[in-house]
Amino acid sequence: MHLHHASGGARAVDEFVAAHRPRVAIVAGSGLHGLADALDHAVHVPFSDLPGIPSPTVAGHGGELVCGMLESLPVIVQRGRAHLYEGHAPEAVVESVRFLAAIGVDTLIVTNAAGALRTALRPPTLMLIADHVNLTFRSALGGAVREGEERFPDMSAPYDAALRARARQVARTLGIALEEGVYAGVLGPSYETPAEIRMLARFGADAVGMSTVNEVIAARALGLRVLGISAITNVAAGLSPSRLSHGDVLRAGERVSSNLERVVRGVVRTLAGT
Ligand code: HPA
Repeated sequence: MHLHHASGGARAVDEFVAAHRPRVAIVAGSGLHGLADALDHAVHVPFSDLPGIPSPTVAGHGGELVCGMLESLPVIVQRGRAHLYEGHAPEAVVESVRFLAAIGVDTLIVTNAAGALRTALRPPTLMLIADHVNLTFRSALGGAVREGEERFPDMSAPYDAALRARARQVARTLGIALEEGVYAGVLGPSYETPAEIRMLARFGADAVGMSTVNEVIAARALGLRVLGISAITNVAAGLSPSRLSHGDVLRAGERVSSNLERVVRGVVRTLAGT
């Protein structure tokens, strides 16, 4: 059982949980790590101290849980995540979500970097995730049903409407542009071809990225409410003359990360006392 693992890092999480009962966790994706540095009284626990949570291998992706206070609310920020394209099984990709649910988190805020299909999304900008299309064709829910999860979780409202309304309200108040759209989750690690982007647009996608969908499916199976925000870092392949590069994606993520942080902080502030 996670909570009773002997390592110092796991013990640090246990102590934070016992003292503060955090109910909100935030997954900070590529180039979006500012949130992890924004916590007061932060305790850093590398994934390697937490059994079953694989350490990410991609430069810029990090890999730790940071426990601390954000807007006076106890939160856990997951800095970095495991991706399917690193060769991890879907179960490994969602292990951190299962861990967070097991320690009592009931609200998950997921962030990622994504390419824009819709022309109204001008990078770098933010997109509230209204819905997703799981084009990884994988699921972490296969096999025996795990304790606390459903066999056939409903996915008709994966991204909580009330949390989205709060995010819109916060962004409006702060004067931060926040479009809303459908995120297509693909396997990667190659970026898409122009033909694939045309296909994804026909599938109803507004943005595309290589994470998040399996985590959200696991979160919903566990009954967590989810808020998702994409940092739109680039125009998708074929929709601009530019080639795509991971470096450009990270840099664009960094340029929009302070706005992302402000929106997330604003939402977290509204969660205090609820
Ligand atoms: N495609 C897939 N994943 C991404 C992209 C993209 O254009 N940008 C950031 N992550």
